[in-house]
Amino acid sequence: MDIENADFLIIGSGVAGLRCALELASHGKTYIITKDLPEESSTEYAQGGVAVALSDEDTIGIHFDDTIKAGDVICNEEPVKVLVEEGPERILELISWGAEFDKNGAKLSFTMEGAHSRRRILHSHGDSTGREIVRVLLNKVRTFPSIQKYSFSYVLDLIIFDNKCYGAYILKENKISAILSKATIFATGGAGQVYSRTTNPLVATGDGMSVAFRAGAILENMEFVQFHPTSLFAPSAPQFLLSEALRGEGAILRNIHKETFMNIYHPRGELAPRDVVSRAILSEIVRTGSRHVYLDITHRDADYIRKRFPTIYGTCLKYDIDITSEFVPVTPAAHYIMGGVKTDKYGKTNINGLYAAGEVACTGVHGANRLASNSLLEGLVFGARAGKSAFLSNINPRDIGISDLSEKKVLHTIDNINEIRGILRKIMWEKVGIIRSNDSLMQAYDTLKRWSGLLTLSYSTRRENEIKNMLQVSMLIVKAALKRQCSIGAHYRSDYSEPARGNRSKECNYHIDLQRNLDKEDGIECKVCK
Ligand code: SIN
Repeated sequence: MDIENADFLIIGSGVAGLRCALELASHGKTYIITKDLPEESSTEYAQGGVAVALSDEDTIGIHFDDTIKAGDVICNEEPVKVLVEEGPERILELISWGAEFDKNGAKLSFTMEGAHSRRRILHSHGDSTGREIVRVLLNKVRTFPSIQKYSFSYVLDLIIFDNKCYGAYILKENKISAILSKATIFATGGAGQVYSRTTNPLVATGDGMSVAFRAGAILENMEFVQFHPTSLFAPSAPQFLLSEALRGEGAILRNIHKETFMNIYHPRGELAPRDVVSRAILSEIVRTGSRHVYLDITHRDADYIRKRFPTIYGTCLKYDIDITSEFVPVTPAAHYIMGGVKTDKYGKTNINGLYAAGEVACTGVHGANRLASNSLLEGLVFGARAGKSAFLSNINPRDIGISDLSEKKVLHTIDNINEIRGILRKIMWEKVGIIRSNDSLMQAYDTLKRWSGLLTLSYSTRRENEIKNMLQVSMLIVKAALKRQCSIGAHYRSDYSEPARGNRSKECNYHIDLQRNLDKEDGIECKVCK
């Protein structure tokens, strides 16, 4: 097996991974490993923007309060404080590196999204905010010769001895190599692909969560999956995101009979928290026996729409929908996982030498429901922080000998991969979706368990290993969702009535930790932590 030595090994090339690399670049040889092209991440597709308390009408305290409220009061307050306090500095730094956010005259232009009490979302080129952030970060990364990027390289497993992480096994072109490092940082993003309806790109298969779990990392709050209320629903079109910023700029939801309905469900109407809007849409779909609702922005000026939302306008037009004059058919879709690899506010996990930042991580910042557009900010703030603390790692790869590296691994194949993938994604959508119950979750659990034999092997292609990871992450979501016997935020159990928002009953205010335990029949230890 080929063995390479890095000082720092970052897995993932979205906002958190790139920002982390910039922190480490002057301290040693920094590798960024990514399973596709470096641009192919959820960050690249982020439309709406990045929330930050920089406008004249806003304060850090109000951003803090909105984040806690949207998270249904079970956010970890300390990391939320870090997010809102360090956010402005990270954004101003990004601007100094060349990021172009849209302006009104000389001033930054801020838009509105659900559950924000102020206009605080910066956007770029209308609705291509993520792409602009990736462009700037990649340009900056290119100025450091100490950073090396490896595309189409897939992380199979971590190199772990005595709860210390010494790097990772990487699969590239059917060959496995070991990369040794004193710190390994996961910035692998989310797992929306485990659902048949998702806004996430194909790469979002939960690899980091699953690999970290296998290595012994604690994962937290995996039951909290955010469903974005509005993804395009048209027979021949992809499941394209229609940014919440559309509603921030006045778009209205209408049911199949063209009637408005959001004011019946929440005083803030279209700008209620995402979990509320998604459930309201589902309710209308069921009540009217339809398959979708409509998003209507036709009352705004056509030139304004084309200029403000060029990507959304152009994409919908490609599928014969002119959003300036027609209602757009939409449904909710899986969008973001609030849970993930448990970290402290410095990105540290329970494994020495292993760090995580961005969607793969759970700092507790999002509680039970993420405030819209807080995730790009999270990637910047906690990516930088993970870099700063990874620099201080005391792991020394020389402590392990070459012979300690398992002559990894026989690579297997999965025969019925497409069938498994299809069933898994369908069952997660239907049984573990916006509304769940003990019965639906148990049905999902029993189905997933039939394939648990696949979890013990490594496979020769990225796609097969992704299925294994999707299966593992799905099992973790189901286990946690079964364990949390209440409704809170994005986790809605039809068999438990929902306590009033903001007045949470104490029995729902806890975290759920998941850790590998081979003494358990399904290999998962699932604990409630108060
Ligand atoms: C959107 O543009 O609606 C997505 C923003 C987010 O998920 O934070």
